[in-house]
Amino acid sequence: MTLSSDDLLTTTRAVRKRLDLDKPVERAVVEECLDLALQAPNGSNLQGWQWVIVDDRDQIAALARIYREAIEAYSKEYDTDALRMGASATPGFDRLTESATYLAENLQRVPVLVVPCINGRMEGAGIFHQASQWGSVLPAAWSFMLALRSRGLGSAWTTVHLNREKQAADVLGIPYERYTQAGLFPVAYTLGTEFKRAARQPSSSVTHWNRW
Ligand SMILES: Cc1cc2nc3c(=O)[nH]c(=O)nc-3n(C[C@H](O)[C@H](O)[C@H](O)COP(=O)(O)O)c2cc1C
Repeated sequence: MTLSSDDLLTTTRAVRKRLDLDKPVERAVVEECLDLALQAPNGSNLQGWQWVIVDDRDQIAALARIYREAIEAYSKEYDTDALRMGASATPGFDRLTESATYLAENLQRVPVLVVPCINGRMEGAGIFHQASQWGSVLPAAWSFMLALRSRGLGSAWTTVHLNREKQAADVLGIPYERYTQAGLFPVAYTLGTEFKRAARQPSSSVTHWNRW
């Protein structure tokens, strides 16, 4: 599959229901995507990231349980928030919820999970420190998703398990006091490789030239 860079940027979607849960993912392809991802910018080029790649079925099952507990707790809060913000009235909201539920219910079947981590903890840190730390891992995470897409694989950016971050750290042996998890990325080949451009508001509605 050869995608132009514009096609890659516009069709790298959150893939949940179209993850091929039956097709194994070779370690080599994950490593290749990660090598590309690590070309991303990061503060002072310190490369304070660590990446936990999980393909052990028991470890994946343990993370899936944590993810489900976290999403169940979050759904209860979110129902109220979503109503308040009118999110449930936005187009595609039901599909998104259904898709997110599908992922939660099937996470234990995903071939590989990836948890990017960044050094340090950010609780109570100032905005400069926080922006520098998140900005030193999230661009690489997105590059990782792009690299997967260009090879016929897919992922979905997820953060909900971070409400149970310590539990996941214990499962994975991540030194919680020294490293912060940035998300959890399911990795699988996709069922088909055609993905659409997302419906997003035009840039003109959110840009401010020279002054807000
Ligand atoms: C910071 C962040 C956190 C997210 N957390 C979750 C999550 O916990 N679970 C999930 O299923 N999707 C999660 N998503 C995926 C979004 O729902 C998805 O990106 C959004 O609906 C837009 O869809 P698209 O990426 O296909 O355009 C997250 C995305 C981002 C960027």
